[in-house]
Amino acid sequence: MSDCLFPILQPAPDHHPSFAHDPTDRVAEARHPATVPGLKRYYIQTYGCQMNFYDSELVGGILMQAGYAPASSPDDADLILLNTCAVREHAEQRVYGRIGQLKSLKEHRPGLWLGVLGCMSQRIGGEILDRAGHVDLVVGPDSYRRLPELLARLESGEGQQQALDLDNEEDYGSVAAARGPGGLKAWLAVQRGCNYACTYCIVPSVRGRERYRPIPEVVAELERLVAMGTKEATLLGQTINAYRDGPHRFDALLRACNKVRGLERIRYTTSHPLKMRTEIFKAMAECEKVCEFLHLPVQSGSNRILTHMRRGYSREEYQEKIQGARSRIPGLAVATDIIVGYPAETEEDFQATLDLVSAVEFDMVYLFKFSVRPGTPAADFPDDVPPEVKQARLERLIRLAKEISTRKNAAAVGSVQEVLVEGRAEDDPERRLVGRTRTNKPVHFPGDDNLIGQTVGVRISESGPHSLQARETLGNE
Ligand code: SAH
Ligand code: SF4
Ligand code: F3S
Repeated sequence: MSDCLFPILQPAPDHHPSFAHDPTDRVAEARHPATVPGLKRYYIQTYGCQMNFYDSELVGGILMQAGYAPASSPDDADLILLNTCAVREHAEQRVYGRIGQLKSLKEHRPGLWLGVLGCMSQRIGGEILDRAGHVDLVVGPDSYRRLPELLARLESGEGQQQALDLDNEEDYGSVAAARGPGGLKAWLAVQRGCNYACTYCIVPSVRGRERYRPIPEVVAELERLVAMGTKEATLLGQTINAYRDGPHRFDALLRACNKVRGLERIRYTTSHPLKMRTEIFKAMAECEKVCEFLHLPVQSGSNRILTHMRRGYSREEYQEKIQGARSRIPGLAVATDIIVGYPAETEEDFQATLDLVSAVEFDMVYLFKFSVRPGTPAADFPDDVPPEVKQARLERLIRLAKEISTRKNAAAVGSVQEVLVEGRAEDDPERRLVGRTRTNKPVHFPGDDNLIGQTVGVRISESGPHSLQARETLGNE
């Protein structure tokens, strides 16, 4: 994604995946339909995690209901919205950079409105308006329904607008149907907010308390997406395995989604290890549409650091969860998130993280250098791991994670994998087809365009650290 790795609520380019990059930002851009002459047009540029990409689709739906049409580029737009992330300082710097670039476009295009949405607005919306006088509105993640009203105020000359209230009830359920097709691979937020208090993390303060959408509503949205062509859905939530609908918990949601006709694959992200119950692993094993992929952020392999971060589990407990999952779900791939250079992280703490990564043998590791977030508990401690040490630790972990993924991918050579074909690989000189296995690994292989959107079988012939290859398809499954 343009700014974050998918699992997660995976943040994007300012992270360092040890495994292949998910092409979701391209997908999000491609979803802007053709422009409609005569209407006001909007263009949304999205940063951050999948939740933000989903939210951008919701915002598109809200704007279309208000009479706007999508623009194909910022140059064609009457309204440019940046949907932003606050998870690390670098993510915010990129947005300020983009706001700066858009200043000259605004100067040349009177009547063009510029808005900043998302988590960075929620954190420092007022500061953005003060610092960048050409920004017309800032809107937080729980206030998107107010966009038409705020735009009307702008049109009537009322000047800069802001809507930054968090609302612990807002789940956008009643506007979700307006968002249009989700594409072959769609996002679907089933939970918003986070009730945890990890010391380093800004998310709870910019996304508010947890709230969940009821199972029937999620199923109805899935059915609607499937009718418009979706074959794979990724259910989203900051701590999605904490999901509740009355007495029903996350395993019940998975089982209900598994019954949606025409849907082929279900993924979900992200989970918190504390809420990872055996019932969820059982549901994953028993639901044929739920893919054999688990994203379970560990953050550190050092118990001392885990305690300080207030994650609520030890490395031993984490490993038990992974063992429990692997023993019940054959062929499970496991991904994680790790922060290096958390305050006072010693070489010994870091070594414990290396040991954990070796022991668990993750298929994919998303690596982040600790970044101070003002207002979080960790900001009260000195950010005392020098930048060069953070960088060196990051590189050591990248090397280790790459060795492991190379070895694991090599073991897949000769196996038959089910692949949902997404399109032509843009980074492949031969422009072969690309799709993902159920375990979320990209596979490149030759084939005709008519396979795009199909699920096919392939026998893996070669492998690399970040992807697999096949010489031919075995036919539709
Ligand atoms: N809800 C998810 C994570 C959301 S943020 C979860 O609980 O796992 C995605 C990832 O960003 C986190 O898993 C963490 O690894 C990383 N992250 C969060 N705050 C950070 C910070 N201040 N510095 C560096 N990385 C951070
Ligand atoms: Fe942040 Fe922790 Fe909540 Fe994840 S569980 S969003 S890391 S506070
Ligand atoms: Fe996502 Fe970034 Fe917000 S990771 S929830 S967009 S702070």
